[in-house]
Amino acid sequence: MSIDSTWLRCPNCFADLSPVDDRVYGCERGHRFDRSKHGYLTLLPPRAPRTLGDDREMLAARAAVLGRGAYLPIAEELARTAFSANGPVSGRPRVADLGCGTGYYAGHLSAARHEASFLLADRSPHAVRSALRAVPGATGVVLDIWRPLPLRDEVADVILNVFAPRNPKEFARILRPGGRVVVVVPRADHLRELRSSGLLVDVPAAKANAVTEQLAAAGLVRISEVPVQYVLPTDSDTRAMLAGMGPSAHHAGSLPGIPADGSADVTIAVDVLSFELASPPG
Ligand SMILES: C[S@@+](CC[C@H](N)C(=O)[O-])C[C@H]1O[C@@H](n2cnc3c(N)ncnc32)[C@H](O)[C@@H]1O
Repeated sequence: MSIDSTWLRCPNCFADLSPVDDRVYGCERGHRFDRSKHGYLTLLPPRAPRTLGDDREMLAARAAVLGRGAYLPIAEELARTAFSANGPVSGRPRVADLGCGTGYYAGHLSAARHEASFLLADRSPHAVRSALRAVPGATGVVLDIWRPLPLRDEVADVILNVFAPRNPKEFARILRPGGRVVVVVPRADHLRELRSSGLLVDVPAAKANAVTEQLAAAGLVRISEVPVQYVLPTDSDTRAMLAGMGPSAHHAGSLPGIPADGSADVTIAVDVLSFELASPPG
């Protein structure tokens, strides 16, 4: 139930947030935020849009499939890229997972680097709650990635952004010089079998390049790109979840030519990209 307020600024006036008492956080201008009984803060700006993020059913389905190790190779590459030798490996790295979902990836990184400290953030309160269970002791925040982030300048050594919305200008602002942003995006082949059966829309070709251009415009230069590709044997429940549906959507796991309860291989194909701040000219 801990909140490390050194991550945080007020979503209203952007002044630093600090504890007011053991449950309330506030800024010098008098804005106040209660820690929920589940241990997170909701830091949304005034008139936040009504986007809610993932619901409980989607999170449970994702947790089930991730728990079976379906995306373990992605988590392993993410940890390698985040903590590689020329990255922020010394001391106690501060890792912000923006769009953390169930906290699966942060949990993996936390097991790889016990001394790292984590901020877990998502628009969905259910997600933040679940992520805090994956990384006890982390700071949990409900926020909107599309808006100015309630996070202080130069506060993160590593920003994780896995299959989640991006805000390049804000990522550049909160990243410490020498830190890195690690982004996972699908390749055109990702879940190819589900796409060709019409269960999912296509991934735009060259998504990694589009994201690279988007981040470059905010002063973040790509320093690595690692493709992760493998074949995942799936049952119909796993296919339904991979298609973004709850486990109850049993029929959604059907593939042409495969009995609904049959097993089938599905292609997993993503790019793990890392970025750092461009050096100032001169
Ligand atoms: C596809 S899920 C990925 C979750 C997690 N990174 C993973 O890969 O397991 C996208 C996540 O982004 C969150 N999200 C969607 N829109 C958001 C927004 N505007 N601000 C913050 N989080 C958002 C959703 O609630 C969801 O948890």
